[in-house]
Amino acid sequence: MKTMKMTAAPMLGGKDFLSLGAFQPDEIFFLLEEAMEMKAMQKSGIPHPYLQGKLLGMIFEKASTRTRVSFQVAMKQLGGDAIYLNKHDIQLGRGETIEDTAKVLSRYVDGLMVRTYGHDLLVRFAASADVPVINGLTDLHHPAQVLADLLTIYEKKGGFSGLKLAYVGDGNNNMCHSLLEGAALVGMDIAVANPEGYAPDPDVLENARRIAAATGSRIICTTSPEEAVDGADVVVTDVWASMGQEAERDVRLNVFRPYQVNAALCARAKTDFLFLHCLPAHRGEEVAAEIIDGPHSVVFDEAENRVHAQKAILKALLGKN
Ligand code: CP
Ligand code: NVA
Repeated sequence: MKTMKMTAAPMLGGKDFLSLGAFQPDEIFFLLEEAMEMKAMQKSGIPHPYLQGKLLGMIFEKASTRTRVSFQVAMKQLGGDAIYLNKHDIQLGRGETIEDTAKVLSRYVDGLMVRTYGHDLLVRFAASADVPVINGLTDLHHPAQVLADLLTIYEKKGGFSGLKLAYVGDGNNNMCHSLLEGAALVGMDIAVANPEGYAPDPDVLENARRIAAATGSRIICTTSPEEAVDGADVVVTDVWASMGQEAERDVRLNVFRPYQVNAALCARAKTDFLFLHCLPAHRGEEVAAEIIDGPHSVVFDEAENRVHAQKAILKALLGKN
């Protein structure tokens, strides 16, 4: 098992957090270690106001329960505060440019979290912002969620090496993409099973393979859910129609039906497998109730870990280095 202890803290102050693939393995292990330390402090009632007086602006172009609340809670627990900005309530929704919005908001707050559609929009926003920008989900990546997933796996399994994660469902999906990069970074094997035509983005896959070549992680891409789940330590899925894909929902329900994570499929996993889902979930679609509500499911620990993982991100980017 790889130790999480590091000799020196990596310099992350002022950086953006747009995708996991932009980080080094040591930086990810550092964030996980920080998350665990602050989680222990929170559980023991020890204050840790590393971001006293700091403000996070949060722009949402899509709905959110977990991301919105967990970032706000994280900032409060760190001694700072967060401002919720629905895109449609600010001038951005009436055509003010991304660039002007990023420049103006940078004069008011110490960091910005953005949930939007195209990843290119987030990259443009970050290029104009003068404060760190955090990805709160784009169509391409969901890195804050996957940092929480890695934290959950680490806590439950005690490490990553020798583990196999199986992702079953839509491969061309923000969760799948961030899991590919995240697993590669921590040296965990990952198998992705998706229907024909729903494979991961080739650039993301290439980046994950480049990282995996250095860390020793193995990446398997298949159309067979059985092959992916065979011997898996962790089984993950996500919705079949992500936000923005509502019009494709009926087509997708048919295409993805053989990819449901259910007891028959999970019988192929290790007997102590974990089930993860970023939520919201659709019982009876991508996952059967017997799995998400069953003894292997850790989805609510995973949701809680959003707060702890994000505190590590916020402290590293917005705090003193
Ligand atoms: N998992 C996740 O990001 O949930 P929300 O859409 O509720 O933020
Ligand atoms: N893939 C899902 C994740 C939701 C947290 C979506 O983008 O809607």
